[in-house]
Amino acid sequence: MDVITSFLKKGILLSPEIIKNPFFLEKLSQLEGEDLEAGLIIDKDFLKKKGLLLDDEDGKEKESVVKRKEETGQINDVKVLFSYKKEPKKITVNDFVAYFNRRFEALSSILRQRQELPGVTSINRLRSMRDKEKVVFIGMVFDKTITKNNNIILTLEDPSGKINVFISDKKKELFETAKDIVFDEVIGVEGVVSKNFVFVNQIFIPDVPLVKELKKSQEEVYVTLIGDPHFGSNAFLKKEFGDFIEWINQRKGSQEQREIASKVKYLIIIGDLVEGVGVYPGQEKDLEVKDIKEQYDLFAEYLKKIPSNITIIICPGNHDAGRISEPQPPLFHKYTESLQKLPNVLLLSNPSFINIGATEDFPGFDFLLYHGYSLIYYADNVGSIRSQGGQKRADLIMRFLLQRRHLAPTHTSNLYMPDTEYDPLVINKIPDFFITGHIHRVSVNNYKNITLINCSCWTDITEDMEKRGLQPQPARVPLINLKTREVKIINFSK
Ligand SMILES: [Fe+2]
Ligand SMILES: [Fe+2]
Repeated sequence: MDVITSFLKKGILLSPEIIKNPFFLEKLSQLEGEDLEAGLIIDKDFLKKKGLLLDDEDGKEKESVVKRKEETGQINDVKVLFSYKKEPKKITVNDFVAYFNRRFEALSSILRQRQELPGVTSINRLRSMRDKEKVVFIGMVFDKTITKNNNIILTLEDPSGKINVFISDKKKELFETAKDIVFDEVIGVEGVVSKNFVFVNQIFIPDVPLVKELKKSQEEVYVTLIGDPHFGSNAFLKKEFGDFIEWINQRKGSQEQREIASKVKYLIIIGDLVEGVGVYPGQEKDLEVKDIKEQYDLFAEYLKKIPSNITIIICPGNHDAGRISEPQPPLFHKYTESLQKLPNVLLLSNPSFINIGATEDFPGFDFLLYHGYSLIYYADNVGSIRSQGGQKRADLIMRFLLQRRHLAPTHTSNLYMPDTEYDPLVINKIPDFFITGHIHRVSVNNYKNITLINCSCWTDITEDMEKRGLQPQPARVPLINLKTREVKIINFSK
């Protein structure tokens, strides 16, 4: 329900000047419950009385900025293709059922596009089939067990029912694939029916087809990526971040590095802008700035020092204020007003999807942005990733998620809002760049012409990170050259 309708339903009238101006409409969300009675008329004076509007704020300048950014979904040549904006609502158990059904539909339709999966059967029909009959079907992983003899049994489910499937450790390649399967992912199976079982011959994951062209821009321009600044934390690396700001203003670094700075057109910040408050027990002692609004104000002061021709794209992380269930809405609330006022800042949801640099004869580059809360679960729970370095291999985790075509396939790997209409965490459109953070370590790789980049951070190690087994690699800045697709890293920790 949009904000205007929700007020009308409560019997509250909004003056035309409020309705027409997105800047004023945004202020409405900050009105407290006791202020709102039926029969009330909300106009500019009312907002001023409630301290939500300063005397000199007539909304004109802000109106044009907010309009340009939010209504057109665009600043310069940055186009917002997906940013989640739905209002939260009360959640019931049925919403989770509907959400998982929507996800199953989306992922099974991706699987059905694969040539190897013709004539998919529904699970309830498998039981009536004759022994040794060959079957192809799609299921969500409900359970996974490894037997005493080291074989794997998966329980797969679709909307029609459940079935157990058997994977023998004698089929080496198949067994290795099955070992990495996680709860709730959606897979295709080809096998042979035997009583109430299916003996598996092949497993198919949704994956990304190898058709993506490695697009390159005509112009040498750069995208700068930073993640997890954690402003307000005692461990925030003030000097290093200051050096980064100096570099982006072409006042620091080697000749080559300054030249790159002059060609930066975009800055992506992948969440955990601030340290936040009350994120974990006892966090208070790790905070230099104890007020969340002040943390954002401080951050905005730094962003103001970035040349205004650079478009800054921001998505939230789990330390940011507001809802942390994914998709996390853009940072539009009373704590982030200082960010909202910056004309070159685009506030997006986590995850979000943007296109940059499109011209009449060039389609531009698609970026999938995800802070990365779920990454740690897969570092710890996928055998092949764990054995190759776990959290140190963000690239392997990102590849794993692309192959599953989902940002958090397992129910317990993130906190989420079950949208009953579609699953916003399904990777429907294949990006040119997949950007994450959260792990606080820089990582660059390529998977089927998709550039995978996990960003660094701007904090030293804290006790909380130590407890979580994080080994941060702070103050590294990946820079994408859009002409060559090369990624350079500047290390500001030296
Ligand atoms: Fe972080
Ligand atoms: Fe994080």
